[in-house]
Amino acid sequence: MKGIILAGGLGTRLHPLTKITNKHLLPVFDKPMIYYPIQTLINAGIDDILIVTGGNHAGDFLKLLGNGKEFGLKHINYTYQEGEGGIAEALRLAEHFADNKKICVILGDNIIEKNIRSQVNAFKNQKKGSMILLKEVSDPSRFGVPELVGDKVINIEEKPKVPKSKFAVTGIYMYDNTVFDIINEQKPSGRGELEITDVNNAYIKRGEMSWEILDGWWTDAGTFESLRRATNLVAETGANKV
Ligand code: DAU
Repeated sequence: MKGIILAGGLGTRLHPLTKITNKHLLPVFDKPMIYYPIQTLINAGIDDILIVTGGNHAGDFLKLLGNGKEFGLKHINYTYQEGEGGIAEALRLAEHFADNKKICVILGDNIIEKNIRSQVNAFKNQKKGSMILLKEVSDPSRFGVPELVGDKVINIEEKPKVPKSKFAVTGIYMYDNTVFDIINEQKPSGRGELEITDVNNAYIKRGEMSWEILDGWWTDAGTFESLRRATNLVAETGANKV
């Protein structure tokens, strides 16, 4: 399986910090943010990795990561998203890299305590479709929120005012190669973005979405509050435990 880290966008919620660097290069305790999703993929046994970056400071990723030697990698692939057209738009840039294989996608600002190896292995054995990872949170309205009936996710709402469950859809997604057909037919949402939630709802409609609960803590780091939370969690308990 191939791994894709989405680290585009402009990070405007973290201004003025992100005026002079890319959000994913900001420190989370003792490492740049991007180190965590890279390690998450590697711990799951995925070492063929593409980083989708963007904005004004994309060259700094190369300076920082090079070919990934520090992570024991021989090579890292990079591509560039112009503007901020949404998570699914950033993912579309990975079509060539994916080469019709299954992919594991992680948002560049998502940090986890443990590892996703068991879910990645389960998805390898899943015939087709997609898998999302859910986590119970105290503030679901900030995220994509699944509506569950029995053990089925029947719909996902993006940042609902009245959430239909207490779960967030985390920024770790696994897809088969039809994901690019879905994205290529997508229309921008009200806020002008190609939404990953619309991609996931397309799989749900086809009856091809499975889900699992993520083990250990999970956080994003794209707002001042969540960046502080991420830093504290990493400092107190450590991230990406094997
Ligand atoms: O963290 C999980 C949440 O991430 C999910 O629950 C939501 O369903 C999903 O929409 C997303 O919500 P956010 O509001 O947190 O997304 P944000 O715009 O902050 O983007 C998250 C990451 O995605 C960002 O760190 C880099 C990547 N991204 C985002 C955009 C908008 C791109 O690569 N390109 C983009 O154009």
